[in-house]
Amino acid sequence: MKIVIFDGSHNKTGMTLKLVDKFLEGVKKGKPDAEIVTYDLLNENIEFCLGCGKCTEDKDPINAECVIEDDCKKIKQIALESDVVVFATPIYEYCVSSSMKRFLERCLTLVTFRLGPVARAKVTKGKVGVVICSSGAPFPFNHLMGITRYPKFMLKLGCKLFGCEKVEMIMAGGMAIKPSWQAKWENKAFKLGQQITQKD
Ligand SMILES: Cc1cc2nc3c(=O)[nH]c(=O)nc-3n(C[C@H](O)[C@H](O)[C@H](O)COP(=O)(O)O)c2cc1C
Repeated sequence: MKIVIFDGSHNKTGMTLKLVDKFLEGVKKGKPDAEIVTYDLLNENIEFCLGCGKCTEDKDPINAECVIEDDCKKIKQIALESDVVVFATPIYEYCVSSSMKRFLERCLTLVTFRLGPVARAKVTKGKVGVVICSSGAPFPFNHLMGITRYPKFMLKLGCKLFGCEKVEMIMAGGMAIKPSWQAKWENKAFKLGQQITQKD
């Protein structure tokens, strides 16, 4: 099982990565030989989308050409070939982090437009997407206030662009406020890690 993690955290000792660590603990318990590749979106060689629109004209059925020469194409290709794709980000201003947003904009190469954005890639049976977010606002206020709305929509679409059939979500909140909330969300992340290894 090959797992790709897109790490959009900026605080590398923060809550988002605590959740990712727990998720991976669960994965390793269920599948000790799982191959895990992590991309730190803050520090990878990923440039900003130039908005030239050239990729939207390209007819490639999966991943259109981009005019920018950096590591983004290679990173996306590895995720297209993996079994599990994880998007992990803190919530910043009702949105994903800016490094995650920069990467998502570069994923325009994986999109084609009909009535709305649709994945070029076909769905891969059994491929799982995982969304891990951490907001300051605790649950359920993060949902009720609309804080998680855009991240849920956009990261679910992100998973679909890589051919994921199913998307699981951990929308944690308020982990820094109460140790018991932190423990609750970490427990959910651990269980999700274990659960996805039992899919085949
Ligand atoms: C620039 C910035 C913007 C933030 N915006 C929000 C927000 O809109 N809603 C919210 O609930 N929390 C917000 N937070 C709090 C973070 O989402 C929260 O602390 C989260 O756990 C951070 O994850 P990390 O520890 O992995 O960095 C913001 C934090 C920062 C630094």
